Amino acid sequence: MSLTSRIDAAVSAALMHAAGGPDAPATLSRALPYACLPGGARIRPTILLSVAMACGDDRPELSDAAAAALELIHCASLVHDDLPCFDDADLRRGKPSVHRAYSEPLAVLTGDSLIILAFDVLAEAAAVAPLRGLELIRTLACRTGMPHGICAGQGWESEAKIDLSAYHRSKTGALFIAATQMGAVAAGQEAEPWAELGDRIGEAFQVADDLRDALGTEASLGKPAHQDDLHGRPNAVTELGVEGAVKRLEDILSGAIASIPSCPGEAMLAGMVRKQAERLTPVLKPARA
Ligand code: IPE
Ligand code: IPE
Ligand code: MG
Ligand code: MG
Repeated sequence: MSLTSRIDAAVSAALMHAAGGPDAPATLSRALPYACLPGGARIRPTILLSVAMACGDDRPELSDAAAAALELIHCASLVHDDLPCFDDADLRRGKPSVHRAYSEPLAVLTGDSLIILAFDVLAEAAAVAPLRGLELIRTLACRTGMPHGICAGQGWESEAKIDLSAYHRSKTGALFIAATQMGAVAAGQEAEPWAELGDRIGEAFQVADDLRDALGTEASLGKPAHQDDLHGRPNAVTELGVEGAVKRLEDILSGAIASIPSCPGEAMLAGMVRKQAERLTPVLKPARA
């Protein structure tokens, strides 16, 4: 099975846990899959499963649950991020954002339900390897909430003065650290040695996202473009120019590849990092040619 179909199957199986019968509110029941399917680039679960496979992936049901949980948290964060009280975005993944399609109250509840579902999926899968399961739950919680998770990242936007590095690390980087660490933990390895790789991939992803925001169009991105300029958010393109940002991305990627802990799938992981970067950043290929 390809990684993409493995991830889609895991996310769909997770959503079944929250699928409502006649005794559940029908519209909210529809909004949950709407927020997660067909999905975007699925980069976080791809990294998670790649790390798990590089470490032997001896409990695939646990790494599937971890991949699904991580993607559910990511989808929840997008639903909340698009709300009028955050970025007020009408479009996500090429279709109306959840609050546009279903209403603001249902978008708040969709995000909340997906976050809770993520932890429920991990708790259920933990039966096969309880210690690994507990660590997965704690790792995901750490990278989702305060003080180092997505909540912290979004919280920085309400501060008069933004600590740019803390903002990016928690808003974007946190789930990439969760991805590498959860992949390792699901396969029975220690989390700590995998933090640096996640941190570096997260930093690269942030620069790539800034490039796509500056150079892309709403049609190519499937979400509003030029948002950094619009909201006056500090970003790599304003700071370094396009060429400078591409160079920065290249440097971070080299560092990321160098930081891969020694494991049986080390070479495969290096290829995965490079492939994901090229997939997300069309400007990268010509710039390197
Ligand atoms: C968008 O993430 C949110 C950011 C952290 C910039 P992705 O670009 O991974 O979104 P999808 O999942 O592919 O839609
Ligand atoms: C979203 O960040 C990251 C989250 C934590 C949800 P952005 O607001 O920069 O990302 P997009 O451009 O809406 O995907
Ligand atoms: Mg935002
Ligand atoms: Mg946004």
